[in-house]
Amino acid sequence: MKLQKNSKSRKTQTASDSKPKKAPKIRADKALLHPQSIKEVRRGHPWIIRDSYTAKFSKISPFIIGTDKKEEELALLIHDPTHPKIKARVWTFRKPFTDQVGLFNGTLRDRIYAAFEKRAVEKYLDNRQNVFLAFGEADFLPGLKILLLKDIMVFQYESFFWEKYREKLVSFSRKAFEKFYPQIKLKAIIREKRESSKSVHRKFISPKSFRPVKKIVIEEFDVAYEVFFDDLYDLGIYTDMSSIRQRLQGLFEKSRSVLNLYAYTGAFSLFALRCGAREVVSVDLSPEYLKKLDRNLKLNKELDPSKHLSVEQDVTKSLDKFCNDKKEFDLIVCDPPTVSSDKKKMTSALQKYTSLLPKMAKTLSPDGKMVVILNTHSIKKKKFEEHIKKIISENKVCKGLVLEKTLGLGGDCPALKIFPEGDYLKVIVLKKEK
Ligand SMILES: C[S@@+](CC[C@H](N)C(=O)[O-])C[C@H]1O[C@@H](n2cnc3c(N)ncnc32)[C@H](O)[C@@H]1O
Repeated sequence: MKLQKNSKSRKTQTASDSKPKKAPKIRADKALLHPQSIKEVRRGHPWIIRDSYTAKFSKISPFIIGTDKKEEELALLIHDPTHPKIKARVWTFRKPFTDQVGLFNGTLRDRIYAAFEKRAVEKYLDNRQNVFLAFGEADFLPGLKILLLKDIMVFQYESFFWEKYREKLVSFSRKAFEKFYPQIKLKAIIREKRESSKSVHRKFISPKSFRPVKKIVIEEFDVAYEVFFDDLYDLGIYTDMSSIRQRLQGLFEKSRSVLNLYAYTGAFSLFALRCGAREVVSVDLSPEYLKKLDRNLKLNKELDPSKHLSVEQDVTKSLDKFCNDKKEFDLIVCDPPTVSSDKKKMTSALQKYTSLLPKMAKTLSPDGKMVVILNTHSIKKKKFEEHIKKIISENKVCKGLVLEKTLGLGGDCPALKIFPEGDYLKVIVLKKEK
């Protein structure tokens, strides 16, 4: 037998040469799941919710192999002991699970590439600079969303498991981005984690030399908006609404006067102006958000600010005033917070529509349309539709209003049938029939 040219003699071999390099063994402890979780996982649902069984999961095992009472292995889970509610999420059903743990990095890489490629094929970045490159469970990246804002990528951790894989995430995402979006030079990566239901924490993680910026300007459908990385809560624009705006473009283009209720920083208002509205009114309680709206308007020199009015007021009060003044709009967009409080009581968005919809109907022009939005997974699309139809049938002033179409998550933010918790956005378009 011939010796290979470069092969070393036994004597010159070093200790590290002598053993094949083995990746350090990653723990994947087996754990019995609650009977309800077993049922859900067998149906294909990706979450394991906190219960007396998850309390017994090994705190130091990053992966868990979920089993039933007979020790049948059901799924390989990524584990997040720090999450208050969702303790583990399904990574794969493909067996053997111990092999899948060893293959984790490769699978992660493939899933990131697949998600980025899907959006590149759809060309979402052709007309907007805010796009989800990966959308959590729907892209088989449980608890991880990857958002692109112009040239800054944001890893949104819903599961803190991902922090352990931060380096891999950065490396795979950078390479996938270079491959599928060679036209954009990525400047930096931020990781964002929710600290509580009220606040988030953002940190620039790559490259280390990058000096953090507080804000940038992005464009969506030829409108510029400021995005704030130092805001404790939201970034200043909701990217999941972007594909809704796109799908409603025809409706906006036909509307001369638009009322935007719960306007926030004005994405729907500026979009309306861009689509040719002659009059746009934005209502929001928050002076800070309306200031941001104003700054956004100033950024867009081609939009005429004299066609826009900001009203800093409670939506109910402003609708009452419009009704008194017999003011009418061709299009009313209403996107209330999921729950609101007036110091005395909490009101859900669904309840809020009971009193708001009749007032909106009074303020609608004879052939006008309304876009009513509900932003929660806990109420199903069907229940929302039934509730809106019930309000219409019980209020004379709503007579003639009919459901024209419904929209939901889509495009760069897909939803999975098996996973209603991820399907939180419901949009109903109502039209007035004579
Ligand atoms: C979910 S955000 C709306 C997002 C907006 N539609 C968008 O896509 O850009 C809710 C907004 O409602 C405002 N808000 C909350 N309660 C309000 C009230 N009673 N009257 C007016 N605005 C209110 C908040 O200040 C916040 O800007």
